[in-house]
Amino acid sequence: MAAVKLKIMALLLAGCSSSSGIMPNIYLLNIGYNDGIVYATSSSSIVNSNLPQVLGNFVGKTNFEVRIGYFALCTHVPPESWLCSPNATTLAERLAAVEDPLNILNVAETFRQKIVFPYLLVTSAGLAFVVFLLTMPYPPLLKTVSIGLCFVSVVLVLISVLWQHTASVAASTVVTNLGEGTLFTGVGLTSMVLGWMSFGLLTVSLMGIYLFVRINSVISHNVG
Ligand SMILES: *[C@@H]1O[C@H](CO)[C@@H](O)[C@H](O)[C@H]1NC(C)=O
Repeated sequence: MAAVKLKIMALLLAGCSSSSGIMPNIYLLNIGYNDGIVYATSSSSIVNSNLPQVLGNFVGKTNFEVRIGYFALCTHVPPESWLCSPNATTLAERLAAVEDPLNILNVAETFRQKIVFPYLLVTSAGLAFVVFLLTMPYPPLLKTVSIGLCFVSVVLVLISVLWQHTASVAASTVVTNLGEGTLFTGVGLTSMVLGWMSFGLLTVSLMGIYLFVRINSVISHNVG
């Protein structure tokens, strides 16, 4: 199970880093154009009700989409295939102004650089790996240290996943509203599931190690 959990965390961090396989589907947030359609927005707090139409005419017909991973972005102009890179400049060079009239690639890159923070998750995965090495042998080495490291790893992954979740939902809501019906956004379901699964599995590991150590100390106490 320890190996599964490390693989899940690695997959989450590697999201969008390659155009092949499922990588473009592991993203925190996606932003795209509605292909010339302007979805009606209605709210009594809208002051300028002409804006959706004006913006719709300006945007025109494009279905460009960008997805944001921890370390890279993926872009896509259907029906072309995905193009992923950690370097947003490379991606921008391949696009025309009519494909991305509102500069959502830049919005995506800003979100990735300023809001997405992968290093808590990286640290957590590192600690989980150390715990994995310590608990491999029988009996486990440095039991108290293992429990402590595992606890820190659980807390870091929890902060990281909450951060990822909150930031993505917030950005998604704001971008959809500013797009006035010309943009769609979404929170990456696969990333959320992977993030919360890492948290769940690490918590189970923590309880497992703790119980194992407790039970063994009770047994050795009774035998001794
Ligand atoms: C990104 O790519 C551009 C050209 O495509 C290059 O000039 C730039 O140095 C690259 N940036 C990084 C950080 O690799």
